[in-house]
Amino acid sequence: MINVRRIGHATLETPDLDRQIEYYTQIFGLALTGREKGRAFLSTRLGQQTVVLEQGDQPRCTKIAFEADPNDDLTALSRALSDKSITAKRRSDATPAISDVLAFSDPKGTEIEIFTSAKMAPFDAAPSGFTPLKLGHLAFNVADIQKVVSFYTDVLGFRISDWRSDFFAFLRCGPDHHTINFASHGAHEKMHHIAFELKDWAEIQRACDFLGRHNYHLVWGPGRHVIGHNVFIYHKNPDGQIMELYCELDQMKQESLGYFEPRPWHQDQPQNPKVWPTDTLGSYWGGRAPPGFGD
Ligand SMILES: [Fe+2]
Repeated sequence: MINVRRIGHATLETPDLDRQIEYYTQIFGLALTGREKGRAFLSTRLGQQTVVLEQGDQPRCTKIAFEADPNDDLTALSRALSDKSITAKRRSDATPAISDVLAFSDPKGTEIEIFTSAKMAPFDAAPSGFTPLKLGHLAFNVADIQKVVSFYTDVLGFRISDWRSDFFAFLRCGPDHHTINFASHGAHEKMHHIAFELKDWAEIQRACDFLGRHNYHLVWGPGRHVIGHNVFIYHKNPDGQIMELYCELDQMKQESLGYFEPRPWHQDQPQNPKVWPTDTLGSYWGGRAPPGFGD
């Protein structure tokens, strides 16, 4: 089994590469670290590559890159995957950050790229409206949630943080409550949203004001989720994809202890991974999600 440690970047296809580059750099506070025909590479201003944009027919997430332990050997990992009847290929199609990846497909057809070392871009201190600290998680709607969750736990080493009934799963690969989540709302499969961490509430407020000033209006939030307990806001990028900005996500700092760091907004003390009821609120004190938000 691979034990991924961190999400690296998402590869997003877009029908309008220039428009998405402008959004991610001028509005969303990322830095452009490279561009070639039909592709662009974006990092946080702190230097971690987080988004790769590729010219394509429609907005969609085609690949997710995860960082494994630096001592892992990609050749050995490839053999371990082969033992599970998963065909992986080694690739060296360089991005500015990563030159060596092991690539294979997950059950919903998204390509998984495993890497063990990444170069950071230089710190970009130019002023921006707000400053995402990192890519935090991706959320997907999937048709067969049990199959996808089993793949992420058995092949990639994720742990289940919470379920909401049997149709919404939150998985972690490090201290963060979730690095990926899956919901099954029917047969359709797509990325539901992409989430970046901001430093704190003050930065969320800065983001609200900055986004509003540039005509990017919130589609939900601010609020505090119950599952994961992060403070959140959501808006849509020019491709119509939902972007989440959040802070104060639950943390399990010691995996062997099995509970999340106590916080005054928790429902249980300690807050352990569990199955939450179907009618659990999406927002603890904010408004409800707008109709169709989960679709
Ligand atoms: Fe989220």
